[in-house]
Amino acid sequence: GGELRTWAGELNPVASPVFVRTPEGLKQKVIGATPLLTSRESLDALAAAVKAYDSGRGVWPSLKVAERIEHVERFLTAMRAQRTAVVNLLMWEIGKTQPDSEKEFDRTVDLIVETIRALKELDRTSSRFVQDQGIMAQIRRAPMGVALCMGPYNYPLNETFSTLFPALLMGNTVVFKPAKFGVLLVRPLLEAFRDCFPPGVINIIYGRGRETVGALMESGQVDLFAFIGTNKGASELKRMHPRPHRLKSVLGLDAKNPAIILEDADLDNAVKECITGTLSFNGQRCTALKLLVVHRNIVDAFLAKFTAAVDKLKPGMPWDPGVAVTPLPEPGKGAYLQGLVDDAVSKGARVVNQTGGQASRSFYSPTVVYPVTKDMRLASEEQFGPVVPVMVFDDDAEAVRLVVESHFGQQLSLFGKDSARIGRFIDAFSNQVGRINLNCQCQRGPDTFPFNGRKDSAEGTLSVADALRVFSIRTLVATKTT
Ligand code: G3H
Repeated sequence: GGELRTWAGELNPVASPVFVRTPEGLKQKVIGATPLLTSRESLDALAAAVKAYDSGRGVWPSLKVAERIEHVERFLTAMRAQRTAVVNLLMWEIGKTQPDSEKEFDRTVDLIVETIRALKELDRTSSRFVQDQGIMAQIRRAPMGVALCMGPYNYPLNETFSTLFPALLMGNTVVFKPAKFGVLLVRPLLEAFRDCFPPGVINIIYGRGRETVGALMESGQVDLFAFIGTNKGASELKRMHPRPHRLKSVLGLDAKNPAIILEDADLDNAVKECITGTLSFNGQRCTALKLLVVHRNIVDAFLAKFTAAVDKLKPGMPWDPGVAVTPLPEPGKGAYLQGLVDDAVSKGARVVNQTGGQASRSFYSPTVVYPVTKDMRLASEEQFGPVVPVMVFDDDAEAVRLVVESHFGQQLSLFGKDSARIGRFIDAFSNQVGRINLNCQCQRGPDTFPFNGRKDSAEGTLSVADALRVFSIRTLVATKTT
């Protein structure tokens, strides 16, 4: 906030996953460039955030809750005016379909509105007094300092703002680094950031992770670390902080959400939910279903319906009506996915849908692989792409073991009708994952629900109200009553 710097240093070109025809043939379209900050320059951004916080006495934490809300509401008005520009960039930068890009934008606005509503509620309840054993106390919510917010490329607007705004509304100042892909879409919002917040409250850094965020972590001046991305990235950065006990982290990490499909499942519903669950946004969602575990008695019937539906998914450009299969933004993703498929095939699985296993430029066709067994990479590695591994199981204990033995524990889906049996599964899974979805796909929303996970899939809980608690600390004002 406060100032927009003109950039005189090195620039980093941003290429779209969309190829365009040029005189030299088909080429990835370069759609812009971002500054490439040095570590010194990213530390300048941090210094601005530290100054605006000023040990809790700075301009931003000193504001009343209602005043901070006013700033954010002004920003929301300016943000709404940039909808078309941001939606276009989502399509060009990460290949998200137009309806999904519009949904990401609208959902982000709603999330900020809901966060404001939750903050008003939190403010009301935290001014209450508690009394016990002759002591009366008021529990206040206080900010914690400087938050470093980083989001992933699959939700570059929504996931970043889902931590940035709660952090901000609680009185923290923020440094945020846009995702590697989905970085230009911050540009239409820069003036709104500048005009709606005091200097130093929001600071945006661009560039290579090690030089930029690495330097921030090593400085020891980051108090809150909000990161949605890979376990590897999160642990590397956390390790760089010289006083880890002073760093509060909230992390959304890797996942391998399974769907367990029992013999009495409504097959048409299971197929419908598993199609969007596995393949919406080409499987690039942390909550995507990444392993289908189907009872042996129905696996042939399920696969017949499922593969027929997969083969009907339409490839095209993100703005083409009715498309489901779009270009993948990560360079080399097709080769990586093919490596997973080849590994499974070399160990006895097959590609079972007609259109599977086709790579062309930044496209990789939805590919169903069956039968996947535990020794294959596809059984345990998060593919984060349009490859759907299908496993078969015979008895319930086997399905339970699969979930218990997994390193991940974000969510799972369970398809079936026998309520007693479903109840036993729920009991077995309640301490394994953050959410059990019955007869429906895994998903984060609604954003007012807690979003978390177990094992290697998360640290802390996000959602509208939870995020406000995560980004603040309770301070008691206590006195004796007797
Ligand atoms: O990539 C992780 C997202 O939080 C998934 O959100 O389930 O709404 O697609 P979603």
